[in-house]
Order: sequence, then structure tokens, then C-alpha cells
Amino acid sequence: MTTHPTGPRRILSGVQPSGKLHLGNYFGAIRQHITLQNDAPCFYFIADYHAMTTIDEATRRRLGHDKIKPADRAATLCENVRDVALDYLALGLDPDKAVFFRQSDVPEVTELAWILATVTNMGLLERAVSYKEKIAKGIDASVALFFYPILMAADILIYRSHVVPVGRDQVQHVEMTRDIAERFNRMYGDIFPIPQARLDKESKVPGIDGQKMSKSYNNTIDLFAEGKPLQKTVMSIVTDSTPVEAPKDPENCNVFALYSLFANDDEKAALAARYRAGGMGYGEVKKMLLEKINLYFVPARERRKQLAANPEQVEEILRRGAQRARAEAQQTMALVRQAVGMKPASVG
Ligand code: TRP
Repeated sequence: MTTHPTGPRRILSGVQPSGKLHLGNYFGAIRQHITLQNDAPCFYFIADYHAMTTIDEATRRRLGHDKIKPADRAATLCENVRDVALDYLALGLDPDKAVFFRQSDVPEVTELAWILATVTNMGLLERAVSYKEKIAKGIDASVALFFYPILMAADILIYRSHVVPVGRDQVQHVEMTRDIAERFNRMYGDIFPIPQARLDKESKVPGIDGQKMSKSYNNTIDLFAEGKPLQKTVMSIVTDSTPVEAPKDPENCNVFALYSLFANDDEKAALAARYRAGGMGYGEVKKMLLEKINLYFVPARERRKQLAANPEQVEEILRRGAQRARAEAQQTMALVRQAVGMKPASVG
């Protein structure tokens, strides 16, 4: 008997709602994930259970200070979830194609996480690099932070997914999911397909200081910034101090690297030629970049404003996504419960 879903391979990924998205997020992951919706059945969810493991950090970032009152944490979670939903929908995620939902709207995933925990060795989790890094940074770790990869395995396995597009930092977690699924299948029967990570193609997205763009370096260009604040950020991109007249090297310029994300080959070649010819200042290139960013994101900004003005519509989209996802999750859980010797869940 095979319990694996037949048909095309299923794609799944989660995003942690952690505040404002930036160009690095978009060109590194979001754009690719959204494109995939046209090729295969996709499940994309907002990982709010996972976000709880770092809620203090997120709340401090949102408030800009660290006097946190109890209600602030809930407000952070709520607001960050809403923001990611708006961002993805505005950027082109189509809820009629992809199943788009909130992780916590399918609480069965926590049940599966417990069951998977019973087949997971401590040693496996202790090897998790992202956990070790957080510990090394002095983060006061909760049990949930340690448990994080098991919940992630449950996310992937409960929808019996085959392909998990992720950034490099999450590949190890998908490897752990494979180990956990194999162990479960050996102990209780062949329930789960063994998923594969699909590494997001990494576009080089430098931050305004030239290091990799990242919230933790405080060097981001936010996706939905516009007007004066956006202009200020773009104008503050660090460049060398070659005088206007002198020839410049496009390959070693952050502004050029960012411009390249938006430009076609001809535009890139033309700008590179102007760099090499000299006579063009960095201020001028920054203005060209600003124009590109504005042009590219205008439709998404408009769409985001419309959606933000209609929170009920967004809620409805997430509700519908959750219904589809939950039906799938409940089927898997019926198989899992039977395999481990439990009766079908009698409620819900
Ligand atoms: N841990 C992922 C991240 O921080 C988010 C995530 C949660 C995820 N569950 C997942 C990604 C399942 C892929 C599959 O980016």
C-alpha cells in the first residue's frame, strides 16, 4: 500500500514573520517562490509558531526600545503576520494557485511535532548549526528554540511535501527532516515521502554598506519603502571616493550590483561602459537605481495599499488557505495516528 499522494510533486515553504522585508529577501527567495506557483502545487505558510521563539527580539525591533509590556508581544506577532501576508500577496502570490495560510491555523502540526519528537535523537538536534549559532550569540535559549527543527519537520511532513525551497541557512533543517521522516517510516511504516531541499539561487544583494543585505547588519533597503525615506537610504549607499571624472570599476560597486538586479543585459552593459569611461558621479548612478526600484515596485506598492485597506479580504484569503491546508493535514494525521496505534481524532 502506498499512502503517498500521487500526482505532481508538492512544493512547500514557510516564512518567518519578522518585520519588514527587504530587497535581499525578495531577490534571494520571495521572487523565486512566487514564480514556482505556476509550475507545481505549492503550499506557503507564515510561520507564526516559529516566530514565537524570537518574539522578544522582534518586539524590541518593532518598538525601538526594550521596555516590553505583555500586550506588546501579541501585537508584534499579529502585526508581523499581517505584514508578511500583505507583502506576499502584493508581490504576486496568487491564493488561487498556491495554498497560502498561517501555520497556527493548522494546529495539527504541533501534534505531529510531538509524535516526531519521540523518534528524534537529542544528538540530531544538538548538531543544528543555527541553534548553536544562536547559543554562541548568548541568546537565552528556550526549549522551543532547540525544538525548532522538529516543528519544521512537522510543517514539511504534514503536507507530505517533496520539495522545500529554502535559503542556505535552512538546508540543514531540511536534512534533519529527511532523517526524522526516514526514522518514522522505519519505525511505523511508510507514511512520509522523503523531502528534498531546493536551494534558492542566490543573487548577490549587497546592503547599503557593501556587506550582504541583512536585518542584523542594519543595512537594508526595505521593499515597501518609498518617497523621501527610500531616497535617503539609496543616497547613503557606500561607494569609494573616486572623483567624478575618473573611470570607475562597475564590478566593485554596490550601486552597480543593486542596479543589475533590476536591469536587462543591455542596460547593464550600457551602465558598465559609462563607469569605465569616467565622467559620471556616484550620485547620478544612485538616482538611476532609485528610479529602477520605484518603477519595479510601483504595482506592488499600490496593491499592498489596497489590501491593507481591506483587512477582511486578507483574513478571508488566509482562512480559505487554512481550510485547504488543514484538510490535507488531517488526512496525514489520520494515517499517522493509525500507524502509531491511536484512534482517529474524535473531534474537529
Ligand atoms: N525556518 C524557516 C526560516 O526561518 C521558516 C520555516 C518554518 C520553514 N517552517 C518551515 C521553511 C518549513 C521551510 C519549510 O526561514
